Amino acid sequence: MKGVILHGGAGTRLRPLTFSGPKQLIPVANKPVSQYVLEDLISSGIKDIAIILGETFPDLVREYYGDGSRFKCKITYIYQGKPLGIAHAVGLTKEFVGDDKFVVYLGDNLLQYGIKDYVKYFDENDLDAMILLKEVDDPRMFGVAEFDEEGNLIRLVEKPQEPPSKYAVIGVYFFKPIVFEVIKDLKPSWRGEYEITDTIQLLLDRGYKVEYKIIKGWWLDTGKASDILYANSLILDERIKRVIKGRVENSKIIGRVFIDEGSEVINSTILGPSIIGKNAKIINSYIGAYASIGDHSVIKNSVLEYTIVLDHAIIDSVDRLEESLIGRYAKIYRGESNRKVIRMRIGDYSEIEI
Ligand code: G1P
Repeated sequence: MKGVILHGGAGTRLRPLTFSGPKQLIPVANKPVSQYVLEDLISSGIKDIAIILGETFPDLVREYYGDGSRFKCKITYIYQGKPLGIAHAVGLTKEFVGDDKFVVYLGDNLLQYGIKDYVKYFDENDLDAMILLKEVDDPRMFGVAEFDEEGNLIRLVEKPQEPPSKYAVIGVYFFKPIVFEVIKDLKPSWRGEYEITDTIQLLLDRGYKVEYKIIKGWWLDTGKASDILYANSLILDERIKRVIKGRVENSKIIGRVFIDEGSEVINSTILGPSIIGKNAKIINSYIGAYASIGDHSVIKNSVLEYTIVLDHAIIDSVDRLEESLIGRYAKIYRGESNRKVIRMRIGDYSEIEI
């Protein structure tokens, strides 16, 4: 089987971070979201993978993943450009896919238990397509499945006002190459996109064999800052082990804390689960729980919890930072003035709660 990762989209809900990179490269627990996707494919036995690039900094994606050898897989890049929809992106992979079965994985989706079992099931069974579903509280912002009395999948609707069920279609789709015959007959939807839900609907209408599986464990579509922070907490909770490579002086490191090489922790407390990247400096501070601090960042005289700080940021004398997402090279510090004054030089679409 082959794999396809979708790495496009404008990421408007993640501005300003998406002014300097694609949303899928935003790190959770110091690793880009799409790297979890890539690693899930690889550990499911899929080594031949295409990454579909959009208009938002495609070169950064090529630079980060390269030819795939660093991850022990082979990566082919396909440029989609304008975000014309998931089905449009899938349509571009016809040549790459050839006669193989394949799985399409949205580069901003995270699954607690990964897709290994489903890859095996699809590989061993004679199906034309398979989708994964998850019961959610508010299905209105997803594709939603409708079933008949016997529980057979009969219809999929994209972002319905009145959802026919609570089962959202998650961003992992399995296909045989027959799907390309259907994609060429699609019409754009009301939002101007070639929808993956319409593709699967057409497969159903034409009598192809489409199955679904309901996934266990959590699933996240990391479209906005609160999702990224939540994903960060879940990944830290489940995958971080206590490893201390950096230098710790006069500090308390409590629980599962990963401190990477070259970092220094001085006169501070770090509460797990948390991760500190390479060559960071933590001085006179209280970090955690649920903090991810990027490489080369400096945190001084500050307290922060449930927060992601990207590489090269500086946080100095900030009493308490919570539920925050701080971009690369950002600086937050206390000014000299003894008046209660706030001075800001912030980028477009930034959000500050004081
Ligand atoms: C897309 C699909 C939708 C699916 C969702 C999962 O939505 O169109 O059917 O439920 O991904 O993440 P979009 O991210 O384009 O809004």
